[in-house]
Amino acid sequence: MPKKNIVVLVSGGGTNLQALIDAQGRGELGNGEITCVIASKADAYALTRAADNGIKARTLIRKDYGDIASYSKAMRDLLIEEKADLIVYAGFMTILDENVCDAFPNQMINVHPALIPSFCGKGFYGLHVHECALQKGVKVSGATVHFVTAECDAGPIILQKAVEVQEGDTPEALQKRIMEQAEWKILPKAVQLFCDGKIEVKDGKTIISE
Ligand code: GAR
Repeated sequence: MPKKNIVVLVSGGGTNLQALIDAQGRGELGNGEITCVIASKADAYALTRAADNGIKARTLIRKDYGDIASYSKAMRDLLIEEKADLIVYAGFMTILDENVCDAFPNQMINVHPALIPSFCGKGFYGLHVHECALQKGVKVSGATVHFVTAECDAGPIILQKAVEVQEGDTPEALQKRIMEQAEWKILPKAVQLFCDGKIEVKDGKTIISE
């Protein structure tokens, strides 16, 4: 069976990209291979991580496009050109419209730094998610990997992992613990499950066979 082409979308530091690269190095991405990284920002450190690991890196700069529709169209064309089988949002901070989601149904996954349906949807990204969790006083937060649909953070959930909030946590401390204990583990695992054909979507939910 030919390997599945994994295209990773990034906007920032790229620690989730690094987790995927490390998993690939350990042979843990199943029948998949990271073939391209696409950044929405020119200064994304994730681009350096791709280059350091010999992975093709491209940019599609969000601020070069007037609106989400034109950016989404350009992204769809790029993903088709890259022959993407799986598209991974790894700290990708731009919402793409249904033009992209329709072209790749149940082929796009996102890692979100909270337990969906808590602290998710438009405006909930990066450190702000953890600020909100601490403001609410939740005792447990975590991360979710889910399929991307046109509605932000609302697609079928693939994997979730809970992480305890500790007394005196700052948003930065909570973010770090959730990345280390949850995101960097469940994102590569979900990619492996996808590439090995072990995720089925039925009635808006996933069924995982292992
Ligand atoms: C991660 O915590 C990721 O879950 C979050 O941004 C961070 C990116 O870190 N993504 C979102 O908030 C998307 N809604 P990274 O660039 O080091 O992987």
